[in-house]
Amino acid sequence: MPKTIIIFFGPPGSGKGTQAEMLSKKTNWKKISIGDLFRAEIAAETKLGKLADKYIKNGKLVPDKITVSLVEQSLKQKASGFIFDGFPRNKKQLDDLLDIFKSIFKKSDRVYAIEVAVSDKEVKQRLSQRRMCACGKIYHLVYNPPINNGICDMCGGKLFVRNDDKPKIISGRLKVYHKQGEPILDYWQKQGKLIKIDGEQAIKKIHEEIVEKLKLLKLV
Ligand code: AP5
Ligand code: MG
Repeated sequence: MPKTIIIFFGPPGSGKGTQAEMLSKKTNWKKISIGDLFRAEIAAETKLGKLADKYIKNGKLVPDKITVSLVEQSLKQKASGFIFDGFPRNKKQLDDLLDIFKSIFKKSDRVYAIEVAVSDKEVKQRLSQRRMCACGKIYHLVYNPPINNGICDMCGGKLFVRNDDKPKIISGRLKVYHKQGEPILDYWQKQGKLIKIDGEQAIKKIHEEIVEKLKLLKLV
């Protein structure tokens, strides 16, 4: 059976994590969320976590070598498909990923990128009201609130504000995205592998549109 690889791409706060989670539930494809992996390392106070934290809290990308090795580890899991959330983010990571694909996937495996397009203004609004749980579940105080204030619906964990969700850091993350992200979009576009989605619709509507487009490509 050919494997499917879906790569979510979009600015901070565009809903990559939210949509990757929903698609993973629907398809059983394994979600690889690099930001979540780093945050778990930071919470566990590992050497890697301490190093990554220095970059993340300042809105910078973690060095490619560390990031790519995390991706390689994650791809060792058995799965019929993988969903990337937040990787690759620059040209070097894209080239590394294509090399990894060559070595572990077959020609018949299908790779598509989904661009979730959202304006900078909307990003700032969303991230100012995001709440997270350590289990990875994402909330928004208005658009996707938890049932009980401050408590995760899924695991009962205490919700927190990410320490890179401060206005100044958000602006820096947006700059990194606009500067480093363009060549990646160009690449998928030229390959005819880019699925574009308007990310400023309701969460459920976006999910439905993604599933619809994947159905047309016979991926689900
Ligand atoms: P990461 O955790 O991936 O952060 P990001 O890319 O900045 O994106 P976010 O997680 O902030 O947003 P999202 O698009 O997932 O949106 P979400 O679904 O939460 O990375 C963090 C850091 O780790 C990076 O800055 C970097 O330092 C490091 N890192 C990660 N990957 C790396 C890499 N490849 N290389 C090097 N370093 C790397 O939604 C946002 C909010 O909006 C939520 O509150 C949600 O409920 C709400 N929402 C979602 N969809 C909608 C909607 N349609 N309408 C209304 N509200 C919505
Ligand atoms: Mg995310």
